[in-house]
Amino acid sequence: MKRLRVGFAGYRGMVGSVLMERMRSENDFSGIDAVFLSTSKAGQPGPVINGQTTVLEDAYNRDILNNLDVIITCQGSNYTKKIHADLRTGGWNGYWIDAASELRMKDSSVLLLDPVNREQINAALSSGMKDLIGANCTVSTMLMSLAGLFKNDVIEWANPSTYQAVSGAGAKHVIELLQQMKVVGLAADDMLNDPSASLASIDKQVSDQLRSPSLPTEFFGYPIAGNILPWIDKEVRGGQSREEWKAAAETNKILGTKQPVAIDGTCVRVGSLRSHAQAVTMKLKRDIPLEEIESMISSAHEWVNLVSNTREATLEQLTPVAVSGTLQIAVGRVRKLSIGPEYLSAFVVGDQLLWGAAEPLRRALKIIINRQ
Ligand code: HSE
Repeated sequence: MKRLRVGFAGYRGMVGSVLMERMRSENDFSGIDAVFLSTSKAGQPGPVINGQTTVLEDAYNRDILNNLDVIITCQGSNYTKKIHADLRTGGWNGYWIDAASELRMKDSSVLLLDPVNREQINAALSSGMKDLIGANCTVSTMLMSLAGLFKNDVIEWANPSTYQAVSGAGAKHVIELLQQMKVVGLAADDMLNDPSASLASIDKQVSDQLRSPSLPTEFFGYPIAGNILPWIDKEVRGGQSREEWKAAAETNKILGTKQPVAIDGTCVRVGSLRSHAQAVTMKLKRDIPLEEIESMISSAHEWVNLVSNTREATLEQLTPVAVSGTLQIAVGRVRKLSIGPEYLSAFVVGDQLLWGAAEPLRRALKIIINRQ
């Protein structure tokens, strides 16, 4: 088996750090020669890998990049725009594994979510495709959770309402949520332990603070603590946001559907930290018994945790706090809606930095290595 030279760009960012952590814990670095790339710190010490210190290489240096078999980038779309086309035009024929959205919808790329679309990935690699791109985190966590229903082709349409964690917006947004929480908590600090303080006066003091220009809002632009923001990313058209547009576009590309599944819903940012949750309403193609539906969902792959639809199990297992930092995809609240026997509802939770971003990338590298 050929030992591959693998370059990592953006390994210190939020997705990059999770990728590094996962690769370390799975001992992935032992099978490759890792080269760490930096857009600003070339020549400085890089991470220590298996006890060996590394030196950062210039992420813009074509000679260095041309010498790599694989480039994994978590650096963002601007880096991809600057480097990818240029490298390909110059004849570089390595594997480009990317977390950013820039190349996702190109015909020359395949989307990565191998527990769901391993066949599409294999077919793409066999046809010589070398741009392997991670999908949107909301789409990936939704598909990982309902893979059994999509694979059995029983969904006529799906309507996700999302509850997206602040980490999806970026590291600075996570800090800003925590800063806001601190300011807002302190706003009524003197009253919280005062039994004579009325809720009306606590609420007024906190609401005034939430609306005050002194609230830190540099990154979100609005309060996110004690609030929800029902718009993510830019508008595409007709009042649909780009995050909402991705649901149908990327799902159908991941699955390679001939007859696209209709998917649309409302994407909402909430004050959770790193797991995206979604309430998904579906119309099934036929009336399927609930037991059969549950069996399709839970047998799709090993990471599904089907949570029984009880109050206790739901509140213990089907929350961002329970799921964050794990590879588990929690699926619960599975029930037929009273609207009619083909209408199904489910609530799903997945860590947007793991299955939503880093994990499909490290698994793509493994797939490539195993094909050498
Ligand atoms: N666009 C996602 C979000 C990030 O804003 O939550 C993950 O692709």
